[in-house]
Amino acid sequence: MESVRWAFRHGSWFPGRAEWLLAARCVQPEEKTRIGQFVFARDAKAAMAGRLLIRKLIADKLQIPWNEILLQRTSKGKPFLVHDISKTYPNFNFNVSHQGEYAVLAAEVEFQVGIDIMKTELPGSGSIQEFFRIMTRQFTEKEWKSIRCAGSEWSQLDMFYRYWALKESFIKAIGVGLGFSLQRIEFNVSPLQLEIGKIYKETSMLLDGDEEEGWTFEEIMLDDCHHVAVALGKPYGFEQQHSEVLSAESTKWIPTEFTVLNFDDLVVSAAPLKPEDPTDWDNFNSKQAFPVRQRTNLA
Ligand code: COA
Ligand code: MG
Repeated sequence: MESVRWAFRHGSWFPGRAEWLLAARCVQPEEKTRIGQFVFARDAKAAMAGRLLIRKLIADKLQIPWNEILLQRTSKGKPFLVHDISKTYPNFNFNVSHQGEYAVLAAEVEFQVGIDIMKTELPGSGSIQEFFRIMTRQFTEKEWKSIRCAGSEWSQLDMFYRYWALKESFIKAIGVGLGFSLQRIEFNVSPLQLEIGKIYKETSMLLDGDEEEGWTFEEIMLDDCHHVAVALGKPYGFEQQHSEVLSAESTKWIPTEFTVLNFDDLVVSAAPLKPEDPTDWDNFNSKQAFPVRQRTNLA
């Protein structure tokens, strides 16, 4: 199995009754309940897309029937597959992220993987400088210097979100979530400018002051404002299995382009887990699209 990189533009997905009810039947009941609890349709769609991406991955790549797939979460919330696939793909793992207009998924058979997407957008309230001040502790001094040297305020914000995605991708690969001091990790971004659609892997990371050679960071701009970072770690059991230095940095590494899927692609191999429940549509249809404040921002 090759690496998988998928994206779904949920910001342009406006499901009708039939599509939403189908989607709701195709995820586990506890996830359907969670998705139903979001206040805004935007967040419900994003979370739904994330779940469908994961199930499609497992159905298509591991050939496990959709309605037999069992996913659970670690104590920190990271989804994992319950089925025992240790004989076929002992190191298979995946991660999803949703922010802005997209939900994205990355999956690997050898490398430990974490993915994060961030959209560059103005803070909901207050100035960019005030926003940066509140975020001071999320980045190291050197990172702030690089953010502030990025150019116009918008370019600074863009660089801020690039660093953010990088940090989150690592946090998500190791699955720790909140509680990990972000000051422990420091990125050296390279190159400074990223072209849309091109995959980069030059950026490096220091962990507790030491260069981490076992980690590679793929970066890609899906469009002019969505930053995606994919953290690729040492294969599990690396120390025991390999004496030579093996990392995603090695020459064998071939970047995998993102494939943008539509809703039909998402559910092409889907099999419902439950009968249709019309109240799922009533619930979704009654949600406000997104917060009013954001609408003002977009105007
Ligand atoms: N590790 C890895 N993946 C996780 C996870 C964890 N501990 N917990 C959840 N996920 C997965 C889930 O699939 C989740 O989607 P779902 O909730 O719809 O099922 C998805 O990652 C969410 O990722 P993303 O869309 O990127 O959300 P986030 O960036 O808001 O959340 C977490 C990231 C989950 C790691 C969260 O713990 C967090 O908010 N960390 C913030 C740490 C921080 O301070 N960051 C500042 C960066 S500068
Ligand atoms: Mg995130």
